[in-house]
Amino acid sequence: MLRVVLLISLALFAGVAQAQLPEVSSTLPQGSAERGRLVFAPCRTCHYPEAYVGHNNGPNLSGIFGMVAGKQKGFRYYSETFAQAEFVWTPQLMYAWLESPMEMFPDTTMMSLGVPDPQDRADLIAYLLQATAVQVEQ
Ligand code: HEC
Repeated sequence: MLRVVLLISLALFAGVAQAQLPEVSSTLPQGSAERGRLVFAPCRTCHYPEAYVGHNNGPNLSGIFGMVAGKQKGFRYYSETFAQAEFVWTPQLMYAWLESPMEMFPDTTMMSLGVPDPQDRADLIAYLLQATAVQVEQ
């Protein structure tokens, strides 16, 4: 019985976490990775895009596109929402989220106001697509 109740509450929670995801547009404004490197500067105090540096106050971002949110091994400071999340990071979703990170996920442990300007945000995503790409050894 207890197990059933637990499962039901887990399912409800997952439902809430999914329901908070906004409708995302399939197209992004054209971005410049070069400009995006500068937009990423404040993010770098908490995140490294390079795999070899590991986690900081925020999780490492190497290979983040295509990963399920909140599942990086060894990172201990995920919010409940991220730890339970089942969605996969796409450029479109990250673009939508970073407009106001705390608005979309109010319990997030990421203390950032995000990047409200649409062009700056598109530049940031263009940079992240390059900088977080996993390097394959030849
Ligand atoms: C003060 C530290 C801090 C700053 C600044 C910060 N982040 Fe974060 N970031 C975090 C933490 C902590 C999490 C985990 C959030 C959660 O679990 O709610 C996170 C999560 C993320 C994730 C999801 C990672 C995953 O494993 O799903 C991405 C992507 C991300 N941040 C990108 C950015 C970008 C881009 C910026 C700059 C606009 C930024 N962050 C600024 C601390 C920070």
